[in-house]
Amino acid sequence: MLLRSRKERLFKTYTANDANPLLVNFWVMLRDYPEELSKELWSSYQVHGSESEHLFAKSLEDLTSGNDVTRAAAFLIIDKCAAKGTHPPKMIRSSTRRHGITPFMIERLPLFSELLENVTLTCLDYRQLDIPRTAFVFADPPYEDVGVRIYDQKVDFQEFSEWVQQMDCSWMISLNDSDYTNSLFRNYDRIVEPVSYPSIIDPKSGCYKRRDATEIIITNYQQKTKNSFLTSFGWSLREARISKAS
Ligand SMILES: C[S@@+](CC[C@H](N)C(=O)[O-])C[C@H]1O[C@@H](n2cnc3c(N)ncnc32)[C@H](O)[C@@H]1O
Repeated sequence: MLLRSRKERLFKTYTANDANPLLVNFWVMLRDYPEELSKELWSSYQVHGSESEHLFAKSLEDLTSGNDVTRAAAFLIIDKCAAKGTHPPKMIRSSTRRHGITPFMIERLPLFSELLENVTLTCLDYRQLDIPRTAFVFADPPYEDVGVRIYDQKVDFQEFSEWVQQMDCSWMISLNDSDYTNSLFRNYDRIVEPVSYPSIIDPKSGCYKRRDATEIIITNYQQKTKNSFLTSFGWSLREARISKAS
C-alpha cells in the first residue's frame, strides 16, 4: 500500500508505523542501506541456498545477535521461510515461487529502497501517533484472533475502532470480515472484498493450503471518491460488494 502510493506520488510526505521493532528495522535498513542488505542476503543465499535448515538456523541466531543489517536480512529470510503464526518461528518448505529467498527478490530490493526515500519510519503503538488533520491514514491491523499468534501483538478492536472514528482526517482501514468488525463500523459503508491467503499447513505435503476469505475496507469519505481512491492504491475491486451503513 505504502509503496504503491509512493510510486503513484499520491502525497507529499509519508510516515509508516508499526509496533514490531524487527519489521521497522527491516524497512529502515532497506531505505538507508540497500546495498549492504543485498550483500548480506546474497552471501546467505550463496552459502546456504534459498530455504535450507542451515539458512533458517543461522537467521534465527542473527535475529538476536546480529547488527541492524544482519537482523534485517534475517527478518526477511524468516518471513519467507517460516510457517505463519509460529512462535518461535518454525521452518516450512514450499513449492511456491514466493517461498525462501531468491536471486530475483534480492535483485529487486534496491527498487523498493528508492520508493522509501524520505519516508519517515516509526516504531510506536498506534495510540501514541500524533496525526495531523491534513493526513490521510491507512491502517491494516492484524485480523481478529490472530494478532498474538502471528504478530505477538493483540489489538483491542473496540478501542481501535474508537481511535479510528475519532480521527478528524481522512482514513481507510482494512479488517477481517466478521459480525463483530462489521458491527464496530456499522455506521459506514463497507466494501467487502474476497481475499485468498496461506493459512493452514497441509499435513500431507507440508505446504501451505490457501484459504478463501473476505476482508472489509472502510473509509470515512464519500462513496463516490472511494473507488477511485482504492483503485489508485492498487486495489482491484472486481468482485467486491458494498455492505451499506445501518
Ligand atoms: C496485517 S499486519 C500489517 C502489515 C503491514 N501492512 C505490512 O505490509 O508490513 C498488522 C501489523 O500491525 C502491527 N501491530 C499490531 N499491534 C499494533 C499496535 N498496537 N500498534 C501498532 N502496530 C501494531 C503488527 O506488528 C503487524 O505488523
